[in-house]
Amino acid sequence: MTGCIVNYNNQMNKSINISKSPAELAEKVAEEIVSMINGSADRKKTFTIALSGGSTPELLFSLLGGKFSKSAQWNYVHFFWGDERCVSPENIESNYGMAKRKLFEKINIPDYNIHRIRGESDPEEEALRYSKEISDLIRNREGFPLFDLFLLGLGDDGHTASIFPGNLNLLSSVKNCEVAIHPITCQKRITITGKVINNADLIYFLVTGKKKALIVDEIFKKTKSSQKLPASYIVSLYGRLCWFLDEEAGSLLNLY
Ligand code: 6PG
Repeated sequence: MTGCIVNYNNQMNKSINISKSPAELAEKVAEEIVSMINGSADRKKTFTIALSGGSTPELLFSLLGGKFSKSAQWNYVHFFWGDERCVSPENIESNYGMAKRKLFEKINIPDYNIHRIRGESDPEEEALRYSKEISDLIRNREGFPLFDLFLLGLGDDGHTASIFPGNLNLLSSVKNCEVAIHPITCQKRITITGKVINNADLIYFLVTGKKKALIVDEIFKKTKSSQKLPASYIVSLYGRLCWFLDEEAGSLLNLY
């Protein structure tokens, strides 16, 4: 069963889109992003995107840098990151490094439109610097930066960006960015915080694979245990929240 189920949980600003495969999901999201960029460009407006990390968006970035590389007016786009590992850009773990290889090296975009988190810097200093960069460059709503589009992934422990279970305080932080620590690897991360994420006009969760089915089901069922999951608190206060799932990740949902 693929297609778009709108207004789940009787909430008008939430939708679920189910794709047959990760490739189909990436194609759908790429088309949406290109259309939004060009719509913004036609109005001579910049379009700000916060990219997610991890492995899920790799297919999407490859499509945007491949089939769609000449389809969007990239000079109107400013790319940011929702989170970054505290490693150098050359490190295979770098979220920026993956996007550079798959996307930025393949499109015609000015370097100054790419606003990476400097994983190689002192984490506390970089969290302050990046907080200021996004405040200075991005329009503001209710005191927080307002991204046009915020891409998020979902960890199988219910984390999103680098807001991990046990750090729900990062959802209500008044700072734009904070330092987080991966609970298993103890790797330091810089993450954008929950109030900024929920301030975005549009939030896309991209989730694929069977190993995510249980956590997706827990979040959608709003079970008691889901209250400990940071992704449960992503609600898009002023805009829309769209879950893009492949059939495996959505396999436990009762959508009708
Ligand atoms: C990161 C993330 C993180 C990621 C999830 C899912 O830097 O790792 O931004 O939130 O989106 O852990 O990761 P996968 O896509 O690899 O499953």
